[in-house]
Amino acid sequence: MRTQVGIVGAGPAGLFLAHLLQLRGIESMVIETRSREYVETRVRAGLLEQGTVDLMERTGLGDRMRREGLAHHGIALRFGGRSHRIDFDALTGGKGVTVYAQQEVVKDLIAARLAAGGDIHFEVRDVSVADLEGPVPRIRFTDAAGNAREISCDFIGGCDGFHGICRPSVPAGVLTEFERVYPFAWLGILSHSPPPSEELIYALHPRGFALCSMRTPEISRLYLQCAPDEDIAQWPDERIWEELRARLAGDDGLTVAEGEIFQKGVTPMRSFVAAPMRYGAMFLAGDAAHIVPPTGAKGMNLAIADVNVLAHALDAFYASGSTAGLDGYSDTCLRRVWKTQRFSWWMTSMLHRFDDRGPFDERVQLAELDYVTSSRAAAQTLAENYVGLPFDI
Ligand code: APR
Ligand code: PHB
Repeated sequence: MRTQVGIVGAGPAGLFLAHLLQLRGIESMVIETRSREYVETRVRAGLLEQGTVDLMERTGLGDRMRREGLAHHGIALRFGGRSHRIDFDALTGGKGVTVYAQQEVVKDLIAARLAAGGDIHFEVRDVSVADLEGPVPRIRFTDAAGNAREISCDFIGGCDGFHGICRPSVPAGVLTEFERVYPFAWLGILSHSPPPSEELIYALHPRGFALCSMRTPEISRLYLQCAPDEDIAQWPDERIWEELRARLAGDDGLTVAEGEIFQKGVTPMRSFVAAPMRYGAMFLAGDAAHIVPPTGAKGMNLAIADVNVLAHALDAFYASGSTAGLDGYSDTCLRRVWKTQRFSWWMTSMLHRFDDRGPFDERVQLAELDYVTSSRAAAQTLAENYVGLPFDI
């Protein structure tokens, strides 16, 4: 098989890259180890930055998001038993975020690809990439029917997530990896219950962090800071509700409505960057190149910002032969990646309980929350980053 861009991974990065290339008349093939059903139902974060929303609108993916997504114009930071609103409208000149789950974006992208006559090879095995430095890089795999296949292409999109094969296929010594692992994780649930507030609440309590998000006005997405190796079996529903009530308690009457919990999972917390995001003809994008902790929900947005840069660079290459965009891909992406890493790390540090922090550090942490919620300059810094830094292209 032969295509212009071979794409490994059908997560948001790989599917969005295929979509952006298709709109520019550039051919691609996508391979994915999981089934279509699996990628369409995998529960991940669900918050789109303004730049992601705008890109979805501009590229024909706006319909369902506009109907079903929830546009938000602020968040609350809650500490000392009170919520403090950060008003995105006032602080960013009318920008905001949209609550729309990652798997809905994935469903829309798969539907768009199939409608455009493209296909996706799901449930493939034994994936490898070869000849990354040669003129014809290749992707080899076994297809769902058990046949050995090979794609020859001009370029490879390494969009196969943190545990994929693309990054490890880069020869030793080429990539520098930067990592921070946090001493906690998030226990996340989906429940048939209205969220405590129409907007997201990020709460710090002496017992740890809690986050109230949502999927619809009837479905809550709630998170609790927990141990990194937390055993989910130790968290029967009643314990989860009790802990949420305790961490969100206050004298302002905020209540947590209970409902049937229909999904539970533990999300590890890690900051990770591999640089450069390119080796030869292979371009790493999304989680294959970087991971952020979920505080601020930047993972999918970063993945989409990467492939937006890559699609522009490939477009310029095929239109004029210019390699300037491809040569600048890694630096362009990493500037935004590092600023977003900084923000995700900062939100995580400001909002979690760290067992090794003493009383001094705890007071400084509370002072930071007090400052962010009382200084317009500080609140604006949070808001600007939360709604998303500009897409570079
Ligand atoms: N061959 C083909 N596909 C693979 C392989 C492989 N060897 N290994 C992994 N994959 C697939 C995974 O099954 C997954 O569907 O690559 C896809 C990578 O998708 P994501 O993990 O969703 O990563 P990405 O597209 O970069 O999106 C980033 O996902 O992890 C979240 O929070 C993160 O929201 C962020 C977003
Ligand atoms: C979510 O709704 O899943 C979500 C929202 C905000 C975050 C993280 C996750 O910071």
